[in-house]
Amino acid sequence: MAKILMKWGGGLITDKSKLMTPDIEKMKHLSQMVRDLSDLGHSIIIVHGAGSFGHMKAKKWRLKEGKIESIEDSQFDAVCEVRKDMLRLNGLVRSELESFDLKTESHPPSDWANGTGPEFTGSISEFMSQEKGLIKTTFGDVVDCEKPKEFGILSGDDIMVRFSKEIEDITHAIFLLGDAEGLLSSPPGNSDSKLISLWKSGSVLTGDHDSRIDVTGGIKLKVSSAEKISEFLSDVWMIDGRKPDRVIELIEEGSTIGTKIVNEA
Ligand code: IPE
Repeated sequence: MAKILMKWGGGLITDKSKLMTPDIEKMKHLSQMVRDLSDLGHSIIIVHGAGSFGHMKAKKWRLKEGKIESIEDSQFDAVCEVRKDMLRLNGLVRSELESFDLKTESHPPSDWANGTGPEFTGSISEFMSQEKGLIKTTFGDVVDCEKPKEFGILSGDDIMVRFSKEIEDITHAIFLLGDAEGLLSSPPGNSDSKLISLWKSGSVLTGDHDSRIDVTGGIKLKVSSAEKISEFLSDVWMIDGRKPDRVIELIEEGSTIGTKIVNEA
């Protein structure tokens, strides 16, 4: 049986351009896929992104930079707001999963994580044990940091790296994207962009793929996170989250349409 760590990108489950706009239909399709995988006996951990529930306010109040004295009062208000917004998004994700009779749990990083980047600290023991059929969820969030920063943005992509490294029996790490079939040779929408089905760690991504809305680094952070994971896991994938059946195909048949990230070192 597989133990699958999946990231639902914020651009997949929200409309990134409109403040706090969830895409419930996408969440439903993804939840159905999780239900199917669970019925097949696999276990699943879900990390999700922020999309328009996080990036916009985080960008406006420069939360990624940590405390800036001249605007600190507004920043601390924004920290609380974004945390609340993320809990709301997580609530929506969980209620879709629960509508398929899945039992879920939420572990917000603001409760247990400290610092940003893949080396962040805080105990991940809550995610180590696996009760059959229970889906544990967490997400990109505003987390506490050491002084003088005091707070910062922890991306779900960094959580993926730490979980893959430290939760022993994970078999697959899957990044589900909102706007592409996998990693593309140039940004989505370009007429010449093609799916890269095998990405060798260390290759160079051409073109400016990053969206201006993202505070955590867009596709480039995903690629570097996936590359780090490929050092210790052989099934690391980027798959079109609009086609959740592909995840089932990957787990059951060993391959699907998408990008497999391999470490050739
Ligand atoms: C960002 O998390 C968290 C906040 C902005 C609060 P992610 O980096 O995981 O989010 P997406 O997937 O890019 O939206």
